[in-house]
Amino acid sequence: MSGHVEDILMGEETLFKNIAAFNPDYIPENYLHRESQMEALALCLRPALKGGKPVNSVVMGSPATGKTTAIHKIFEMVEGRSEKLVCAYVNCQLYNTRFNIFSQIYQHIFGHIPPETGVPFSRIYGEIMKKLAQEGKALVVALDDINHLFYSKNANQILYDILRAHEVFPGARTGVFAIISDIEFRYMLDKNVSSVFIPQEIVFDPYTFQEIK
Ligand SMILES: Nc1ncnc2c1ncn2[C@@H]1O[C@H](COP(=O)(O)OP(=O)(O)OP(=O)(O)O)[C@@H](O)[C@H]1O
Ligand SMILES: [Mg+2]
Repeated sequence: MSGHVEDILMGEETLFKNIAAFNPDYIPENYLHRESQMEALALCLRPALKGGKPVNSVVMGSPATGKTTAIHKIFEMVEGRSEKLVCAYVNCQLYNTRFNIFSQIYQHIFGHIPPETGVPFSRIYGEIMKKLAQEGKALVVALDDINHLFYSKNANQILYDILRAHEVFPGARTGVFAIISDIEFRYMLDKNVSSVFIPQEIVFDPYTFQEIK
């Protein structure tokens, strides 16, 4: 009996060439059929590499159309090639409060999370913006599965915090990539946000049978 159980645990037999490809955080080496979307994302980021600000965008498409993968790929490319633009990725399903989202951005910039207790939001926010200003860097924040911020009614405040940073910190150059998997999802933004968030729409169509093959 125990020998059989051990065989199951330790057996070498498998149907899969690379079972890690099924892990949620797996990033494929070969990412095909998304050239036009990757180009559109690159065009949104380019101004920020030249001293301007990133172009805001909404990335839309059904589940499993490669949106998250595209963002990871393009962010990795930018950060590997330029010091001028900080690319922070936030999974809004996991982080959906103002404090948690800016803690993620803080961690990306400073390499450690801010202390959990006793630090007000405004301090974290200020430190992020000051550091970017000191180093002359722009910031783009990818809010993946941003629909979760609408359920928790935090979307307007967080977009406002990111996009109107220049009002409190002159020279701040910030942008947002909002990623939504539900195409039917209609997002409602307050006037003070919609005046600064006029996003470029980048659509991820479902893959064709041929592409999937
Ligand atoms: N063009 C592609 N080539 C190879 N693998 C891909 C491609 N597109 C997607 N995948 C793989 O399919 C899975 C789903 O992709 P991804 O998570 O990027 O989709 P998504 O659009 O973000 O989905 P969701 O809306 O559910 O978050 C991942 O494992 C990803 O690596
Ligand atoms: Mg995704």
